[in-house]
Amino acid sequence: MSGALKFPDRFLWGTATSPTQVEGHVANEWTDYVAADGGHCRVACNHYHRYAEDVEWMAQLGVNAYRMGIEWSRLQAAPFAPLNGQELERYVDLLDRLKAAGITPMVVLHHFSNPPWITAAGGWLNPAAVPAFVDYVAKLVSALKERVYLWNTFNEPDTYASLTYLLGGFPPFHKWRLRSYRTTIKHMAAAHVRASEVIRQAADGGRTPEIGIAKNWTFFGPFQKHALWDHLLAGISHHTFNRFVLNEFLGGPRRAASTFLGVNYYGLTRFKNFEPMVPAGGACPKQLARLGVVCDDMFERHPGGLGTILRNLHRRYGLPLYITEHGSASADEDFRILDLTEHLRELHGAVKVGVDVRGFFYWSLLDNFEWQFGYSKRFGLLAVDFNDENLPRTMTRVGEFYRGICRARAAPLAPPDASVPIHRICIP
Ligand code: BGC
Repeated sequence: MSGALKFPDRFLWGTATSPTQVEGHVANEWTDYVAADGGHCRVACNHYHRYAEDVEWMAQLGVNAYRMGIEWSRLQAAPFAPLNGQELERYVDLLDRLKAAGITPMVVLHHFSNPPWITAAGGWLNPAAVPAFVDYVAKLVSALKERVYLWNTFNEPDTYASLTYLLGGFPPFHKWRLRSYRTTIKHMAAAHVRASEVIRQAADGGRTPEIGIAKNWTFFGPFQKHALWDHLLAGISHHTFNRFVLNEFLGGPRRAASTFLGVNYYGLTRFKNFEPMVPAGGACPKQLARLGVVCDDMFERHPGGLGTILRNLHRRYGLPLYITEHGSASADEDFRILDLTEHLRELHGAVKVGVDVRGFFYWSLLDNFEWQFGYSKRFGLLAVDFNDENLPRTMTRVGEFYRGICRARAAPLAPPDASVPIHRICIP
């Protein structure tokens, strides 16, 4: 790769999925949910039965890491119950196949879904969720400690709590319940701290575990510089979704519970007359393009922000960082390739000035069930044909491009055919 940006040899080049989005056959609060496009997660990518093939695809991609979830609802039928041996075996087999392929797993313990008995008891509003989760984690870690050392307790607690209690996007679809949002975050933060203790204890004798959350980082701003109310809304959003959450998980003595911080980075949300100017918030992509807002099918892109936030988080918390998710959804593969190139350039810039970033996980391995949006958002390195009941996977051009990066352990300065930087591209 000519003119390449070299990364440290031990850097993890990975990809990521979550159980509800890819496995299928789950029994949690999403099972009966029907998304905006009519899709549901009951089969999803059938990764549940197809994981062996998907590991082969990962080997073809040349990734050396995989951020995967383990679905709590499969493993525990009741609070404090023993783990389901058969389901555990399946995950063990997946982990063994990853190992044989030279792929390091990072295991996510909570990714937007809960066992039905947690939901029935009031979800994370009920403080009883905390000891129940900690018990599950202790049992799981003691079963998997020889195979896993990277533990990601919670994926995007802010997204989970806001979509369940503020924005009405996730079951149970409540809106504007700020107190419930805050309680959920506080309970999850308490669970993280206690889970971190049991992971350290349970993993005794195995490889020293690494423990952290994945924080979704979104920048917020007004669309028009001097729009006072939009300014205010951006400030409130930043405080609620970024500052409050980081402080609950990493403030004061709680910082010691984490050995790393995961960052999920997709970009920027700007407000215009109180409306978020992103397709995921309902804004019309054509209108956004006319206004010069550069988006994929979900969010406004802001590659420069990645470098900024990595440097800031490094300065503030001094923890090793992983980019636990970055990717884009678009039918335009050139756009996705350019997006990846620009973000990796920023990432490289941060590493070069001494920010301790240890890995990058592309979201996602497969096109998958994108929660409220169903199957209409294509994030995969591998495309999945959901119209074919065999759910065939095919390598995308973005996947091929990422394979080149994983193999070279380096990112190109520019994508193969691109001449226009992403901040000047307008999606038609
Ligand atoms: C979540 C994923 C989701 C992705 C793209 C992240 O917020 O962790 O589950 O699919 O963003 O929207």
